Amino acid sequence: MAEPDQPSTARMIDFWLGGEHHFPVDVAAARAFEEAYGPCAVVFRSLREFLGRAVRSIADAGVDSFLVFGAGVPTRGNVHEAAPEATVLYTDVDPVTIRLGQRILAGSDRAGYGFGDATDIGTIDPAQLHRFVPGWGGRPVGVVFLGLAAFLDDETLSRTLDELYEAVAPGSFLAVDFAGEELAAYPRALALMGPAFRMRPPAAFGPLLGRWEPTADGVGPVAGWRPDGEPAAVPDPFYGAVATKPSA
Ligand SMILES: C[S@@+](CC[C@H](N)C(=O)[O-])C[C@H]1O[C@@H](n2cnc3c(N)ncnc32)[C@H](O)[C@@H]1O
Repeated sequence: MAEPDQPSTARMIDFWLGGEHHFPVDVAAARAFEEAYGPCAVVFRSLREFLGRAVRSIADAGVDSFLVFGAGVPTRGNVHEAAPEATVLYTDVDPVTIRLGQRILAGSDRAGYGFGDATDIGTIDPAQLHRFVPGWGGRPVGVVFLGLAAFLDDETLSRTLDELYEAVAPGSFLAVDFAGEELAAYPRALALMGPAFRMRPPAAFGPLLGRWEPTADGVGPVAGWRPDGEPAAVPDPFYGAVATKPSA
């Protein structure tokens, strides 16, 4: 595949997770970020483990299809690996990451990858949506919205989450995360995240979920969300939750 000119946070995460789907430009950006912040592998491992626990909790509640926004690279414990019985549609807006994802999933009849702007679900190809998320709007689904809220302003995020709530069937779930304020102590690292990046105080997270109801676990640091055993003692820049659209 041709080398992209710009790094992608998703492919930087793949590098930190020890994956194979990134380019020299992503590695250079990941190294520059680590110089400004510190080691990142431990942070993104913890975030990916949260994804796994959140997705499995949704699958255990009986959900068998997932729609993933800002999906990044579909490996290293991503959704179809955490819930192998489910069908999964991964979406993103970055053409290079989409092509990588399509290549990784080629031949899979349970998981696909296509374009999807989370802020406008009408941009998803309806044929792909109905193939991998059958009964969309009529059957409960899992919506995975991780690594994305931090790049959307409050108004766009609230509207987007509300549109998703309206679109899904009762009994559906949302897995979501937010960036806390840890990077405020690392101004050089914060600048590398670009102007769209939003840190938020934890008190801001709940109201942004709107009608989505967090499970009794609430919104908290991802390492502490239903940990397998003692939560890992890692820096916790991310807060996460699983929320529901209750059954009528
Ligand atoms: C920090 S990465 C997270 C990747 C993945 N969710 C993970 O946790 O490894 C953010 C991803 O969101 C994508 N993205 C940014 N804006 C988006 C939008 N409006 N709709 C969908 N994806 C978007 C980027 O292209 C990038 O792949």
